[in-house]
Amino acid sequence: MKKITLALNWKLYLNELESIEFVEKINHSKNQFDLIDLEIYPSATAIRSVRNVLNHSSIKIGLQDFSIFEKGAFTGSLSLSSIEIDCCIVGHSERRDFYNENDNLILKKLQISNAKKISTILCVGESLNEKEEGLSKERIKSQLSILKNLDIQIPLTIAYEPIWAIGTGEVPSKEYISDMLSTIKSELNTLYSHEKNSALRLFYGGSVDETNIRNLSDIVLLDGFLIGSAGSKFEKLMKMVNNLI
Ligand code: 13P
Repeated sequence: MKKITLALNWKLYLNELESIEFVEKINHSKNQFDLIDLEIYPSATAIRSVRNVLNHSSIKIGLQDFSIFEKGAFTGSLSLSSIEIDCCIVGHSERRDFYNENDNLILKKLQISNAKKISTILCVGESLNEKEEGLSKERIKSQLSILKNLDIQIPLTIAYEPIWAIGTGEVPSKEYISDMLSTIKSELNTLYSHEKNSALRLFYGGSVDETNIRNLSDIVLLDGFLIGSAGSKFEKLMKMVNNLI
């Protein structure tokens, strides 16, 4: 079986102490976590503690989002230089929806993480309306079109996260996900050389949990999952890991 990456987007589910308790449990079940690639995206306030407590150097720790401002009079902001991290997420649909982030801003963030050579997950995905109107692929292509302005230097991951599947328990069929990942792959083929393209990863996210991860993991183009709710509960994470190894 191919090695699948689990990227845990902890959103605002766990505070600092809960995050520490979580990684202490990972420390105590070390062997299983040697067999998969894990990335954890805690709340920014918990990153330092998670890094200090986690006894597992192969697990990457990242930011869920960051500001385009690097340093200075920007109250409440957090930049990629604010804290030591291995990776980051940009363009999550919750940022696009709740904070009105548009493709221009998302491109600026990608340019920053690219310049700093920080491995980045770019999230794309259609809304329920767009799906029902048959516009899913157009939506994805338009979200990916910002990449033509990016001379990619970093390990980039595209996470396909249909908005209607996030937190709803509704998971697209494997055929649907495969078709969308193929669309993403062929868009990327038009943008980048074969060499750069083969280094790009494709993830799926949206209601992934211990009941469906095994079945979804054999989608040919899939390199990993971006997991929200289920990845913030240790018992569920263990079941997901055990279902994959
Ligand atoms: P859920 O796994 O809770 O549906 O969230 C998915 C997600 O948004 C990951 O970024």
